[in-house]
Amino acid sequence: MIDIIPSGASLGAQVRGLDLGKPLDAAMRDTLLTAWHRHQVLVFRDQDLDDDALIAFTGAIGEVQMAPDSDVTAGFGGFADVSPAITTISNIVKDGRKIGALGHAEADWHTDMSYLDTPPSASILYAIQVPASGGNTAFCDMYAAYKALDDDMKARITGRRAIHDFTYTSAGVLRVGHKEITDVRDTPGARHPLVRTHPDTGRKCLYLGRRINGYILDLPVAESEALLDLLWAAATRPEFVWEHTWQRGDVVMWDNRCVMHHRDAFDPAETRLMHRTQIRGDGHS
Ligand code: OGA
Ligand code: MN
Repeated sequence: MIDIIPSGASLGAQVRGLDLGKPLDAAMRDTLLTAWHRHQVLVFRDQDLDDDALIAFTGAIGEVQMAPDSDVTAGFGGFADVSPAITTISNIVKDGRKIGALGHAEADWHTDMSYLDTPPSASILYAIQVPASGGNTAFCDMYAAYKALDDDMKARITGRRAIHDFTYTSAGVLRVGHKEITDVRDTPGARHPLVRTHPDTGRKCLYLGRRINGYILDLPVAESEALLDLLWAAATRPEFVWEHTWQRGDVVMWDNRCVMHHRDAFDPAETRLMHRTQIRGDGHS
């Protein structure tokens, strides 16, 4: 039997008593999915996984989505050789080359790969090396954010779509081959509804993805900017946020459809190494 211990905040729970390196039976998969749909972010501590085991666990939950290539994740090419299913998140530089994305600086609030038409439903992040302090990851509850909007705001955004920028990474790095955007109406990236209905829970949530170069279609730019600023402030209110402090061996699985995340900076003299997998989304919105 496993224990599921809610964080006590708006979202997040820890799952105790499960070795993710062992095969998952159908009943346990159902239990985990039910807990994940309810808590949006699940934390599993003290895991000992190699890449094959991380990918096998991911594949037992859903369909593994390949990692974006390194030009996309970090704005430059040439990451260390890892499985094409693995996204390396690290500040380590080996032989003059970065081995992963995001570096040591703060990563802005975002949801993964929302610049795609079909972003991954889940990201699963495994901590291999963590700094002594810093580099915490905060998550915010986009169901709660939607629910707290007043009726007038809900009416203003219902049926509207926004552009999710492709030109910048969530660490603020311009991707290879892209120019700075001077008019947000021309931002390359996917168009997603601001309000989406979660395909598994049927609950409505706000879907913002990333703020930089965002644009709500068909609005004057100034009105789009003002509305986006209001929505972003509403989504990241402290009462909707829960922060995870990493230990080596942690696996955190979050739902990109109804959660955004933000990473703190950490001391660049320290090393942090995480391997991430993704589960394919269904494009439903
Ligand atoms: C990610 C990400 C945050 C972190 O893997 O998608 O944003 O804590 N990582 O490294
Ligand atoms: Mn991310």
